[in-house]
Amino acid sequence: MNTSDISKLVKNQPGGHSLGQAFYKDPDIYQREIERIFMKSWLYAGHTSQVPNVGDYFLYELDNESVIVIRETVDSIKGLLNVCRHRGSRVCLSASGNANLLVCPYHGWTYEKNGQLRGASHTYPGFKKSKYPLTPVNLKVFHGMIFINFDKDPISFDPVEKDMDECLQPYRLDKAKVAHTESYQIKANWKLAVENYCECYHCVPSHPEYAEAHGRSFPRRDMEEALQEVFQKGELVGLPEHNINYDWLDSGGVGIDRSFDRYPLLKGFVTGSRDGKAVAPLLGEIKGYDGGATDMHIGPLTFYLAYCDHVVVYHFKPVTIDSAECEITWLVNETAVEGKDYKPDDLIWLWDITTIADKRIIEDNQKGVNSRYYEPGPFTEMEVFEQGFIDWYLSSMK
Ligand code: FES
Ligand SMILES: [Fe+2]
Repeated sequence: MNTSDISKLVKNQPGGHSLGQAFYKDPDIYQREIERIFMKSWLYAGHTSQVPNVGDYFLYELDNESVIVIRETVDSIKGLLNVCRHRGSRVCLSASGNANLLVCPYHGWTYEKNGQLRGASHTYPGFKKSKYPLTPVNLKVFHGMIFINFDKDPISFDPVEKDMDECLQPYRLDKAKVAHTESYQIKANWKLAVENYCECYHCVPSHPEYAEAHGRSFPRRDMEEALQEVFQKGELVGLPEHNINYDWLDSGGVGIDRSFDRYPLLKGFVTGSRDGKAVAPLLGEIKGYDGGATDMHIGPLTFYLAYCDHVVVYHFKPVTIDSAECEITWLVNETAVEGKDYKPDDLIWLWDITTIADKRIIEDNQKGVNSRYYEPGPFTEMEVFEQGFIDWYLSSMK
């Protein structure tokens, strides 16, 4: 499909409806998404607790790209493209590890942790090592969360820092640690996975475990009274009222979505857990349970569900045109001791069971979308946030 065909398709997409089939199947559209969305956005790569010591690194991989996220010094984390400046081999092959120097396995070019080329044998006289550092990638650490951006001239991250700093403060995510990470491989186009995350219309039929605990499963107007109670209690436990909604087209650009939106948990639940009881010690500066939870969104592909005792981070990315990955990270207070203060099985129970159910419904969705009889269908009042995603997506693809 050529450029003007894609633009025509975007223009003809009916408003208020799910996307036409080509958006889930056409390789040229997929390529345009990679360039216009994934290569431009601020993407959650991980948490600082994953690289506690100098030389610790992990890889962030997307499409053909691989980034080495490495702690260069006690105070500095760097993002380096995992592409050797000699003839292009991958330099780091392990998904994570610790390295004093980064040594390319092909011909042994050796790089410092800041990417500078330190050694290359048998080069010609006049060879300047300073000309061949590993290419840096834009990287920001914000409240312990590491974001990267592949763009050479990325959209400013400042709006995220400015708008989200205060509301994140009580959680002290810079003083959190990764308790567990799980990667869910979904046989569907990445947009179906994100769309599914963006609506809770399916929560009552598909997620009984979630629906009995979270007010998000019901229309907002039915939850207003309970939300006011959360705000009152929140004030007392150190979670003052904030409501930030710069998502999708309201974000002011591709890649800097930021929102913070509170909602009530249902009776008997202080967190997202099997029995409604806490599953970890309180986070950061939070002094008690206010009966609420917070949905957050930073960058277009990362969503957070913040409870008072843990935060669940969802990062979506495409693997191929018809497969996607949802990586979930569970963050707890850094002082919490596994086995004593939290049990991983209890901590991850709700979102593991929920994401396994999501994987199934997303894959069934893809099967139906693949049908020659599929047609875009109308959104409901429970799919307003998903509609925002679709409108933003179409605008990015014009
Ligand atoms: S490609 Fe890395 S040293 Fe040759
Ligand atoms: Fe779901």
